[in-house]
Amino acid sequence: MKNIIVIDDEQYICNIIREALDEFNDYEVHNFVDPQMASEFIANNAVDLVLTDLVMGDFSGEKILDITLANHKDAIVVLMTGYPTVKTAISVMKKGGYDYLIKPFKLEDLKATIQRGLNHQQLRRENVELRSQLELSRVTGAIANGIKLQPLLNLVVDAAARILPARGASVILLDARSGRYILQCQSLIGNDASVAAFLKGDLSLCHIDFESREPGLFKEEILDNGKTVRRSYISLPLVSSGEIIGLLNTVYEDRFRSANPGQIRLLSLMGATVAAAIERNNLDRNLKKSYLMTIKALANAIEARDHYTAGHTDRVYRLARKIARRMGWNTIRMAHLKTGCILHDIGKIGVPDAILNKPDTLTDNEQVIMRRHPELGAKILGGIPFLEPVLPYILSHHERFDGEGYPQGLKGEDIPIEGRLLAVIDTFDAILSDRPYRPGRDARVALDELQKNSGTQFDPMIVILMKP
Ligand SMILES: [Fe+2]
Repeated sequence: MKNIIVIDDEQYICNIIREALDEFNDYEVHNFVDPQMASEFIANNAVDLVLTDLVMGDFSGEKILDITLANHKDAIVVLMTGYPTVKTAISVMKKGGYDYLIKPFKLEDLKATIQRGLNHQQLRRENVELRSQLELSRVTGAIANGIKLQPLLNLVVDAAARILPARGASVILLDARSGRYILQCQSLIGNDASVAAFLKGDLSLCHIDFESREPGLFKEEILDNGKTVRRSYISLPLVSSGEIIGLLNTVYEDRFRSANPGQIRLLSLMGATVAAAIERNNLDRNLKKSYLMTIKALANAIEARDHYTAGHTDRVYRLARKIARRMGWNTIRMAHLKTGCILHDIGKIGVPDAILNKPDTLTDNEQVIMRRHPELGAKILGGIPFLEPVLPYILSHHERFDGEGYPQGLKGEDIPIEGRLLAVIDTFDAILSDRPYRPGRDARVALDELQKNSGTQFDPMIVILMKP
């Protein structure tokens, strides 16, 4: 029920107005002839509209206006007077009064003014609701744009706090290993101990029904600087595949009203959106984990068979990363670079041990077999969609800039940049490494070797980037 307050020191005027307002069914009309009592009521109860006389002995209607707006930001205040002056009218409107009625007024005019005021208030409140809905659309928009989990949770906490507006909000997620709820992020105004405990995920304060998975709502009245404040603790379960995987906790505070069902519904929608995003994130993470484990197993398989290249792929990656950074590659290309470096010799799996680990120079026939490893590697990994961007590293790392390399004999910039880069780094690390027939050389010798073959074996641009 919403409240209309009528204040006039003439009882009969109060009575007439009350009768006239009978048709405003959704509102309860409270009459006061004593402005002091009226101001006390206004300071301690929910108020939507105030209709007050301007002059009531020592107590002015302007004071009622001040008290009303100090306690109720969106209240509508209409002043009534039999002695209008332009100066007073301007002063009242400047202070935030909604309208001004001159006595004697027709009851139709009074009703029309009040209806207009309530419509205005309704629009303003709907505007606030719309702003809250925009918060939700900001969150869904961020998810659609592929926002990462932690920034998403920070965004949700900010948005939840703005929807209410809240004293604080937090996201708590269930840790699969420990089975405990762990705080992920929070916003908190002030240092109230029970608000802080609730936001941290103290389940005794959350009032969640774990069976029905319904939102937990707990209301209490507290005293803040001598004034009663209504506080609502709202705990929304984040449900994924039928299980509660976390909580979105919000604390709402208002002097006169608890959180309304519309606000809670909006928060629930936000909770459902976030739960779906978390579920997808977990699936992506598991997929990525098993993918990386597979890559690692393949890389280990290569190094286990090739005695001379232990640690080679790792060193190649570190150096290639340095050069790629100099070329300004983005994070996605850098991720492909890592996989490409680790897997570039995967085709050596198909080269017999006797050739792969032969300490002497290879015969022509053995060379032919050895030189099959780029194509073999591309064949092994071909057809796996997420490895497609990695194939140029595998297929083209033995091409030469002058077109004399293998397997395709590509020339210059026809060789993918991935292959040109890896050709330089692969050779550089090979010169630095010990071989059965010679010890490893130092970096200066390796750089000279690159320089000597720049433009023939190697891409000159990459050779330049190799310089310290
Ligand atoms: Fe190779």
